[in-house]
Amino acid sequence: MAQAARMQVELGAEIIDINMGCPVKKIVGTGSGAALLRDEPLAGRIMETVARAVPVPVTVKIRLGWDDGSRNGVAMARIAEASGMRAITVHGRTRAQMYAGQADWEAIAEIKSRVALPVIGNGDLISAEQARHLWQKSGVDGLMIGRAALGRPWIFREFATHLTTGAPAEPPSLDERKAVIIDHFHAMIAHHGPWTGHLLARKHLGWFTRGFPGGAAFRDRINHAPHAEAVAEMLHGYFDTLMASPRAA
Ligand SMILES: Cc1cc2nc3c(=O)[nH]c(=O)nc-3n(C[C@H](O)[C@H](O)[C@H](O)COP(=O)(O)O)c2cc1C
Repeated sequence: MAQAARMQVELGAEIIDINMGCPVKKIVGTGSGAALLRDEPLAGRIMETVARAVPVPVTVKIRLGWDDGSRNGVAMARIAEASGMRAITVHGRTRAQMYAGQADWEAIAEIKSRVALPVIGNGDLISAEQARHLWQKSGVDGLMIGRAALGRPWIFREFATHLTTGAPAEPPSLDERKAVIIDHFHAMIAHHGPWTGHLLARKHLGWFTRGFPGGAAFRDRINHAPHAEAVAEMLHGYFDTLMASPRAA
């Protein structure tokens, strides 16, 4: 872990976040991710070793515990604090929950109240209003957004505006969305090359167009498109139609 962290810093990483929250079977099966919640001494040694190995801030992400019978979020947060972590992110579920049920923000608040380390709350944040409420109620120092950002990369601006000013969170105009989506598509092509880029972009285009009129038909067309240029054309065509339709205005 220390060697991996040093390599990342050499590549330009400004922060290292250790993931002790991943619930996926093939990860916990190797003793990684959330499996580390079951071995506090080892988790502590990893945090300490990584923190000492690199000059950049090291943080850790955890879940509330392995399962309901073994919730050790507070103990893990204290270990993180004693091991040189600069912040801790808490996803308010146990490993056993995977992504089922609701994130337990009361448990996140409890962890926050028991350590001096900055605590970042995570789990089920979907709207700026709800995030503001949970932020104020839990007292956490930061919020982390996961799935709600899929297809909504502007969500960070919406949340930041509402949390700092209290003003309603305004979604971006269709024009701006189109610009962001098309930019992202071309960035993926530039980064991965046209073939892999357009295959990987399908997933994002699917998220971007979720809930939009004609979204399902558009997704079907791009999934059968022969190459990146065809997808780019469909993308322009889709937005032009959308912007011309009174329903989308
Ligand atoms: C497909 C998928 C991949 C994820 N990959 C990571 C990851 O690599 N590192 C990490 O810390 N969390 C990862 N997470 C967890 C999220 O960061 C987050 O903790 C979780 O989704 C709960 O927050 P949310 O309700 O806002 O999505 C992943 C989640 C999903 C659904």
